[in-house]
Amino acid sequence: MLKTAICDLFGIKHPIIQGGMAHVGTAELVSAVSNAGGLGIIGAGHYEPDWVRQQIRLTRERTTKPFGLNIPLTSPFAEPVVQVALEEKIAIIATGAGNPDAYMPRFKRAGMKVIPVVASVAVAKHLEQAGADAIVAEGMESGGHVGETTTIALVPQVVDSVRIPVVAAGGIADGRGLAAALALGAQGIQMGTRFVLSTECIAHPQYKQKLLEADDQATLVTRQSVGRPLRTLRNKLAEQVRELEKAGIAKEELELFDRGRMYLGLIEGDIDEGSLLAGQIAGMIKEIKPVKAIIEEMVAEAERIISNLRNFRKKG
Ligand SMILES: Cc1cc2nc3c(=O)[nH]c(=O)nc-3n(C[C@H](O)[C@H](O)[C@H](O)COP(=O)(O)O)c2cc1C
Repeated sequence: MLKTAICDLFGIKHPIIQGGMAHVGTAELVSAVSNAGGLGIIGAGHYEPDWVRQQIRLTRERTTKPFGLNIPLTSPFAEPVVQVALEEKIAIIATGAGNPDAYMPRFKRAGMKVIPVVASVAVAKHLEQAGADAIVAEGMESGGHVGETTTIALVPQVVDSVRIPVVAAGGIADGRGLAAALALGAQGIQMGTRFVLSTECIAHPQYKQKLLEADDQATLVTRQSVGRPLRTLRNKLAEQVRELEKAGIAKEELELFDRGRMYLGLIEGDIDEGSLLAGQIAGMIKEIKPVKAIIEEMVAEAERIISNLRNFRKKG
């Protein structure tokens, strides 16, 4: 059994977290991950507080296991969603984009465990000081908003810089990735793309199909020019955005152009005009599976690999 500090911290069986995901990190997926012994995290995205409250309650109807809530602090509803989290007594908060400093004291006073997602050592150190209980170090391989450092370079540097447990994210989708993350000093992993390709995820079948067809070169990063780099599948929209950026589109204009695109891609399945968030590891995933199978196969494979590595010299 792979038991780590992350399992103890969150009261979970396996050191596997489903990263909060806007639009698709809903009660269906979150409860499936938590019921399978991982940690499911609701993605509040930019949804209104009532929607978030409903997802929390739906999740509680489906699982008695621990789960968390991801709040992108850039959401126009960040403050009322934080209020909902406090009222609903959410135990675990994951913060995405934006600086959680202003909210930290309230989270800590309420006894919440806080696990921010970071893309650099400096931010990891700062958030440890501010009271984070663990850190997700997310490499630029990830689906969604990304930094500039790869998982394999970022994770050991964050591990060396903080005392709290570190979770590796970005480019992990099987037992090999889990074992590698543990070897880098992480106490667990967080996945997004692999969980989108689960039976329980409500993502549109056309988007899932496009992910299944992806190869290792299928994703690209756009929106760097406005300071919000986003990794998606290459499609008509991504190419269009790339051209607009080359032509020097202003931040506000691009934001207007982008409005509703994620929902269009992930939920309505418009694979041309919608934004299809995806990590580089999409190319490795060839099957949609139930969450329980994803988690159990992954843990078994990692255990096998770790034990084989231990016997490496004997065998060689
Ligand atoms: C469809 C999708 C939506 C995402 N939405 C969010 C989000 O709202 N907040 C956040 O912090 N991370 C978000 N992420 C990032 C994931 O939580 C996770 O850290 C990342 O996907 C890990 O990399 P991987 O895709 O290689 O597994 C999203 C990722 C995907 C694929």
